[in-house]
Amino acid sequence: MPKQATYSSPHEQHQFDILIIGTGSAGLMSALQLSRHLSVALIAKDEALEGSSFYAQGGISAVLDAHDNFEVHVADTLSAAAGLADEAAVKFMVKNAPAAISSLESSGVRFTKDSNNYHLTTEGGHTNRRVAHVADKTGQSIQVNLLNNVKQCKNITLFENYIAIDLLIKDGQCSGAYILNKSTHQVESFVAYKTILATGGASKVYLYTSNPDTSTGDGIAMASRAGCHIMNMEFAQFHPTCLYHPHAKSFLISEAIRGEGGKLHLPNGETFMHKYDERGELAPRDIVARAIDSEMKSGGLDCVYLDISFKGENWIKKHFPTIYNKCQTFGIDISKTSMPVVPAAHYTCGGIDTDLKGLTNISNLYAIGEVAHTGVHGANRMASNSLLECIVFAKSCAQDINQQVLAPPHCKFDPWDASRVAPSKEKVVVTHLWDEVRLIMWNFVGIVRSDRRLNYAQHRLEQIEKEVDEYYSLYLISSDLVELRNLVRTAQIIIKSALSRKESRGLHYNEDHPNQSDSIKNTII
Ligand code: FAD
Ligand code: SIN
Repeated sequence: MPKQATYSSPHEQHQFDILIIGTGSAGLMSALQLSRHLSVALIAKDEALEGSSFYAQGGISAVLDAHDNFEVHVADTLSAAAGLADEAAVKFMVKNAPAAISSLESSGVRFTKDSNNYHLTTEGGHTNRRVAHVADKTGQSIQVNLLNNVKQCKNITLFENYIAIDLLIKDGQCSGAYILNKSTHQVESFVAYKTILATGGASKVYLYTSNPDTSTGDGIAMASRAGCHIMNMEFAQFHPTCLYHPHAKSFLISEAIRGEGGKLHLPNGETFMHKYDERGELAPRDIVARAIDSEMKSGGLDCVYLDISFKGENWIKKHFPTIYNKCQTFGIDISKTSMPVVPAAHYTCGGIDTDLKGLTNISNLYAIGEVAHTGVHGANRMASNSLLECIVFAKSCAQDINQQVLAPPHCKFDPWDASRVAPSKEKVVVTHLWDEVRLIMWNFVGIVRSDRRLNYAQHRLEQIEKEVDEYYSLYLISSDLVELRNLVRTAQIIIKSALSRKESRGLHYNEDHPNQSDSIKNTII
């Protein structure tokens, strides 16, 4: 029974064949594949381009070179995943990668080439060069092109600045969602045969993150409230190198910089990665992030440094124009000096459990992109496999839906009831709790964990949840409140998952259980 909303006003109900929540690369690609015969509502809680996809730098992995092959891409992905990936899902993704690249090219993406060949770069965990990219603005190019195509499709209606609150669920079936129109402050119902969650990840649960503000775990929290299986959420990936600068908001310094020879060093110039892994700077991300964390803690350092200056100004400007320009705005000339870097939360490896078509355990509900757990990333995602997962599973999800004869959804849902809530004069509670959750997660559920810290975080999050529930039952809904409620739910799932894993594996390192167990299990919450 819905609890609250804006003051009395006519409740608007929309009806579409398909409801897609999220306009990242997963949402946009699925919309394009579905819109030939079906009407599609495409929802973004901000402007359509805003989301992690837009900021992707390094690129998208695929076997595109005669010296590479599917077996090696599969083996590298499985190895980075520390024994926890689903091999069938990885094979499915890797085999479909070249077709994903072709789909992007058909939509207008022009990958960087050397004469007629793709310029392929590399990143941690890849043994061959297989990362196709558009200089260091791969995500921007993908998003702008996909969105242009979407805007030309008459069957797609784009709703920007609409934030989904909860799914419409009856008799174990999903029939759409309640969605807050941020301009009118009204809650509207969107009813559809099929609903696709493409809401991205949850890295905003951490104080420091490479992600934009949209990554608040909304899809994971909504799905969890609806009864979906949420898998392996303890595996929060920290990117080793974000710019350390008070105004940089953890701006990402692409792993492709290390792929092209960039070296990490301490303030005194000493390199250190060789002490942790024979692959040095190109070890998988979990290893590099833990190594930096360890050097910072043992040396009492605020940051370490990453050097690519030896490549020279022209080369750097050609290959990494975004990073070069961004650093210039902070007074750092990376062709002359090293960049100060620190790890920050970057990617949610766990998520809503799905099959290879993106279908969840709730009928008519799909999840694709970072919000989903397809099994391809296991305990640690290999770099540039995420955009790939978005495109491959967006296509397979759409293909599955396109083949079905659609049965009418439940249409009779109670309108959102705002009669028992009032405007809040205590908005500071929301901002305070928001900051507190993110600080707790950073300090107690970060790169290195312990049972004591996890238990403390769990205890505190339980109190915060009660406070948020009370606020939610008393006051009018707002976008910030929707996100806070989801942040708290997602943080709790991460902590619960972390507490239930009595070993260290991939991205989850607990100093009370430092070894990897022989038995391999997924965490389901
Ligand atoms: P997103 O692109 O995050 O989009 C989420 C969408 O959901 C947004 O439109 C948002 O408005 C919407 N949304 C969320 N909640 C709601 C709600 N409640 N109601 C309505 N709408 C909602 N991966 C790679 O493979 N290669 C890279 O080079 C790479 N570089 C990266 C660099 C950065 C800085 C970051 C942050 C990530 C990078 N990644 C990279 C990861 C990759 O970009 C993401 O995993 C991927 O783009 C996620 O796409 P998505 O479509 O699932 O979600
Ligand atoms: C990067 O460019 O370092 C990000 C790549 C990724 O997260 O896959």
